[in-house]
Amino acid sequence: METQILPINSGSLELAKNIITGGDLVAFPTETVYGLGANALNDDAVKLIYATKGRPSDNPLIVHVHKDFDISELVTDIPDYAKLLAKAFLPGPLTMVYKSRGIVCPTVSCGLDTLAVRVPSHEGAQAFLNYVGLPIAAPSANISKHVSPVTARHVFDDFNGKIRLILDGGKCTGGIESTVLDCTGAVPCVLRSGLVTRDMVAQVAGECDEYHMVEGERVRSPGMKYKHYSPRCRTALFDYAHRFDALREYRESLARGEKPYIMCDEQVAADMEDAKILNLGRGENEVAANLYDKLREGERVADIIIAVAPLKQDGVMVGVMNRLTKACG
Ligand code: TXA
Ligand code: MG
Repeated sequence: METQILPINSGSLELAKNIITGGDLVAFPTETVYGLGANALNDDAVKLIYATKGRPSDNPLIVHVHKDFDISELVTDIPDYAKLLAKAFLPGPLTMVYKSRGIVCPTVSCGLDTLAVRVPSHEGAQAFLNYVGLPIAAPSANISKHVSPVTARHVFDDFNGKIRLILDGGKCTGGIESTVLDCTGAVPCVLRSGLVTRDMVAQVAGECDEYHMVEGERVRSPGMKYKHYSPRCRTALFDYAHRFDALREYRESLARGEKPYIMCDEQVAADMEDAKILNLGRGENEVAANLYDKLREGERVADIIIAVAPLKQDGVMVGVMNRLTKACG
């Protein structure tokens, strides 16, 4: 199968619609990462997502809808705080989990009675969702466990020959996956941290909990239990206080004849002397936007990525640290 990468225009949207209604997959950009989409009403198409990614069959998918789509067609029991949150943050990088009406096929939620719904803000995503006119189930468009894709090229690297179309909407500006928020309780609860932070939710909703996985307990967001975001090279992770140990590790690796790189933000880079750097930039939003791109660059050029955590660890950095720990910890 030939994999086409096309800019988003009337021709590629028509092709995308034909592919989706025909039960096949289309990769598309969002403001967070690229998604691998299928018609959420077609069980075989949704199963194809799992097969193509090699995704565990108990890790549910997010349904993506156009901004004018009435989500009460798909879900029920929408609490008042969720309406406020939707008004404040949608379209945008916030996924909200509600009680499902059972309209989308059961494979999307892996048999759970809830459904995760997302309204992406990316113009290309909106054009795609609007043109196709169907709820689209989509995980990140990477082979399961690999680093999520933030460019069309990243998607191509994972799925060349396996999918027919990648809609190219440029580099994703957000860079880490959406915040997943459980809206089935009296108080919203962050299941996966992202660009819409717990504080931002609490400011609108009054309060916000955060879920932490407890060993031996049933996980509320099944995706959390899996290894994720792994670059295909060796990795190490140091906290900010131990950044000079990272530099020592770099020098030892170099002395063994390897190609090590240090991955860090601008502030840490200033302390890394002449070491080769995968630079994440400055500030939480820039670091989030660069993280997956630099992990994918690192796996191409390095034998080992030696990551150093930024000093600041609150706000958006909660989400960044969550990914960095899973990728390099
Ligand atoms: O930014 C994003 O969210 C991207 C883009 C493509 O939209 N998508 C994405 O999908 O990251 P994925 O499949 O890689 O992650 C979906 C996450 C998983 O952690 C999954 O467990 C959780 O959402 N999830 C999905 N449905 C759920 C549900 N009904 N209840 C709890 N968690 C759910
Ligand atoms: Mg993913």
